[in-house]
Amino acid sequence: METISIINAADHVNEQVKIGVWISNKRSSGKIAFLQLRDGTATFQGVALKNELGETAFAQLTDLAQETSLWVTGTIHADTRSPFGYELAISQFEVVGTSHDYPITPKDHGIDFLLDHRHLWLRSSRPNAIMRIRNEVIRAVYEFFNDRGFIKIDAPILTGSAPEGTTELFKTDYFGQDAYLSQSGQLYGEAGAMAFGKIFTFGPTFRAEKSKTRRHLTELWQLEPEMAWIHQDESLEVQEQLVAYLVQAVIDHCPHELAVLDRDVATLQKYTKLPFPRVSYDDAITLLQANGFDVDWGVDFGSPEETFLAEHFDQPVFVLNYPKAIKAFYMQAHPTRDDVVIAADLLAPEGYGEIIGGSERSTDYDYLKERLLASGQDLQDYEWYLDLRKYGSVPHSGFGMGLERFLAWITLQDHVRETIPFPRMLHRIYP
Ligand code: 4AD
Ligand code: MG
Repeated sequence: METISIINAADHVNEQVKIGVWISNKRSSGKIAFLQLRDGTATFQGVALKNELGETAFAQLTDLAQETSLWVTGTIHADTRSPFGYELAISQFEVVGTSHDYPITPKDHGIDFLLDHRHLWLRSSRPNAIMRIRNEVIRAVYEFFNDRGFIKIDAPILTGSAPEGTTELFKTDYFGQDAYLSQSGQLYGEAGAMAFGKIFTFGPTFRAEKSKTRRHLTELWQLEPEMAWIHQDESLEVQEQLVAYLVQAVIDHCPHELAVLDRDVATLQKYTKLPFPRVSYDDAITLLQANGFDVDWGVDFGSPEETFLAEHFDQPVFVLNYPKAIKAFYMQAHPTRDDVVIAADLLAPEGYGEIIGGSERSTDYDYLKERLLASGQDLQDYEWYLDLRKYGSVPHSGFGMGLERFLAWITLQDHVRETIPFPRMLHRIYP
């Protein structure tokens, strides 16, 4: 007899199989018991008959508490009435791990309670579906870039630099020297692009932001491609192709998960239509002002402005060429204007805001030095970075996509905390 996973039930109809499961719910009348069996790959119904199991075994089975683990043996039947399509007629079982008073019951729990029990909450169907979609997106990211000649390089997590400004750093003592948890792999990615042409980094990055918004984590996974010989226009094309590719991968490979989350596939499908609209920062300000927003040229957009812009275009939208004063030191100066840089943010619709930030990078040694000094940084920490402009500097561009922001949008979660297995936020580092 074969040991199988529930997800493969369709391949074993009318066969005797063995499955390792947890009981997620159950109900029984005197003669028949219905158990929701979960093995991590899917959940389906097990049916046990008193007549067949015998009185003692049937009583033992119907007594088992939520999250008891057991081996079940039985026959898979096609069942058109169940949403999963198959069920198990249980003929035998063997308890492996008992469970008492499992804290997460089928009733409603508050979000703080659930986050305190995140180590158990991951077993529930919605978090499970979100983590499977996360896994699919990660898989598709590697596929997309490997198919296009990028190589992945791993940026360090302990660093001496602050690419995104000095106010949001987690500082640590590195054998008597100050070190920081990396805010972004980008600067190392630029060294990689000069060495390998096209690279991506993909790993945890850290922001000591005291923000308590639904878009902020202190530990987030960032995907950061960097491309030598590539100008911003071409980088925007890579960005929109990437987003469309990832959305399509989720549609193709996660239909069950999208159904669990009530995510409308037709809406998602819209986001695979390219190109995405582009609007300049200047025009975005005009548009916002015309629609009653109290914004002056020079401000950074908050969540209401970003929500409006993406809703207005009804698609993810690139906002181009932000004011220099509100963007990072490394961005390429505009060829004819002193007040903006060659940068773009991609804003997601449905209220999700910025999911990608990117730019062309300055190739000018003196300009970068001046910008670093102006932002209060110590040039010594950036000598290696400035070296990239001394030895065969070439035009290059890149971007960073926050995995959790992207996932919150695709899975329609109110808060990014739901899209990472163990979220780190202001006031939360447990569990
Ligand atoms: O816009 P950011 O700060 O850009 C960078 O770090 C660049 N170095 C990227 C690059 O060009 N290589 O961050 C990039 C993305 C944002 O668009 C957002 O999706 C995500 O990272 N992000 C966050 N996600 C969750 N919580 C936070 N606190 C985030 N900060 C940024
Ligand atoms: Mg940004």
